[in-house]
Amino acid sequence: MAEQKEYRIPAHVAIIMDGNGRWAKKRGLPRTAGHAQGAKVVEQILEDADHMGIRYLTVYAFSTENWSRPQTEVKALMNLLRTYMRTALPKCTKNNVRVRVIGDRSKLDDDLQKAIDGLEEATKGNTGIGFQIAINYGARDEMRRAVTALARRAADGTLSPESITEQTISDALDTAGIPDPDLLIRTCGEERLSNFLMWQLSYAELYFTDKAWPDFDRDELVKAVDAYNHRERRYGGLIQ
Ligand code: IPE
Ligand code: IPE
Ligand code: MG
Repeated sequence: MAEQKEYRIPAHVAIIMDGNGRWAKKRGLPRTAGHAQGAKVVEQILEDADHMGIRYLTVYAFSTENWSRPQTEVKALMNLLRTYMRTALPKCTKNNVRVRVIGDRSKLDDDLQKAIDGLEEATKGNTGIGFQIAINYGARDEMRRAVTALARRAADGTLSPESITEQTISDALDTAGIPDPDLLIRTCGEERLSNFLMWQLSYAELYFTDKAWPDFDRDELVKAVDAYNHRERRYGGLIQ
């Protein structure tokens, strides 16, 4: 009898939460209503992921390209993030969640930066699920910032260019210390990376669903993890 393979829970799941605008449009609502619903969904999915045994969840909340949207939409998205950063602490404490924001936060409003710093600081000792939120994040920008930091160390003589390994680069990215995602989920039918975690996703399994993000729920997450279990990860080698 063929041996039953063990069900694997991915340690790190990354999500491109897409389709808030289309979800709202379909209902005759403003795009911002889709973002508000999407924000609720992400909090629920964080809990569901935690209960499933997922150790890290990384979500794409605002890209370096999203600044090109209308001012009113950018403002609404920033306000949702502001509200989250200001109110999430009790729940994070209760659920032992460690929050980390990736992306270039220096371009965000001062009060939002302070709220982010505060939530990160207050949750840094938590040992449960790691929750990474990508804000003003772009993989190319992240790599540019990492290269600048490494070049500075090379210029001041503390880093020898020949000693740079793949690990040196990983450690210079915003996700330093976090294992690479095992599974990437993108919602609402688009099948592209849109500048998300391009270094870290090198060997992730990719899962696409037509569901819009505001309709995503625990069952959808389970479906994605089931699909992941049907994949054969080879990493360039051969399966025994
Ligand atoms: C994803 O939903 C949320 C963000 C990009 C901030 P969209 O706003 O991209 O929704 P669609 O793709 O226009 O439907
Ligand atoms: C990617 O979604 C960014 C986020 C989910 C925050 P977009 O909706 O901005 O991506 P494109 O424009 O369809 O590639
Ligand atoms: Mg979109």
